[in-house]
Amino acid sequence: MTVLVAYASRHGATAGIAERIAAGLRTAGLPAEASSVNDVRAVARYDAVVIGSAAYMFHWLKEATAFAKHHRAVLTERPVWLFSSGPLGTDLVDKEGRDVFEASRPKEFAELQTLLRPRGDRIFFGAWDADAPAIGIGERFLRLMPKSRAALPTGDFRDWQAIDAWAVEIASELQSAA
Ligand SMILES: Cc1cc2nc3c(=O)[nH]c(=O)nc-3n(C[C@H](O)[C@H](O)[C@H](O)COP(=O)(O)O)c2cc1C
Repeated sequence: MTVLVAYASRHGATAGIAERIAAGLRTAGLPAEASSVNDVRAVARYDAVVIGSAAYMFHWLKEATAFAKHHRAVLTERPVWLFSSGPLGTDLVDKEGRDVFEASRPKEFAELQTLLRPRGDRIFFGAWDADAPAIGIGERFLRLMPKSRAALPTGDFRDWQAIDAWAVEIASELQSAA
């Protein structure tokens, strides 16, 4: 039983979450590898797959969705989990009073639920460094809008405890099915 943790990441925060999940699975006794979706060659080689992406402007990164759709035949034959790295800060409720994790679900999750029937999905707090070089049009645009930029909390908000707990959950589900 080998698990693939495939990720799409623009600035590295999601890559770090994927690496941590893979490490957690290995600690629980399951061989696991984290890899960028761009580098995965043979999905069929793995017995279970976790797919994660950063969320930008309410969407998963395109390469993550493309990966999920391209490999859907193999993925639907295996246990799959999805995660998204997104909300910044530590507030659990947003300004409109909504659950932050619910509000941060990327738009693609509904379609991927139907397509892949994942065993579970999670939203994790992410990380952002306002001084890092801008990547993509959204971030370049943000540079021109100091007020919006200041409204986006800067820092590393990744909740390693929640991430580790999820890895343990996945491992025990896979081990109890084996
Ligand atoms: C311009 C911009 C837009 C963002 N949009 C969203 C969003 O719509 N939803 C969300 O949950 N997080 C959003 N975020 C937060 C990122 O998803 C978060 O920083 C993530 O952890 C980055 O992951 P990465 O370093 O792997 O790219 C946004 C961040 C930036 C800079």
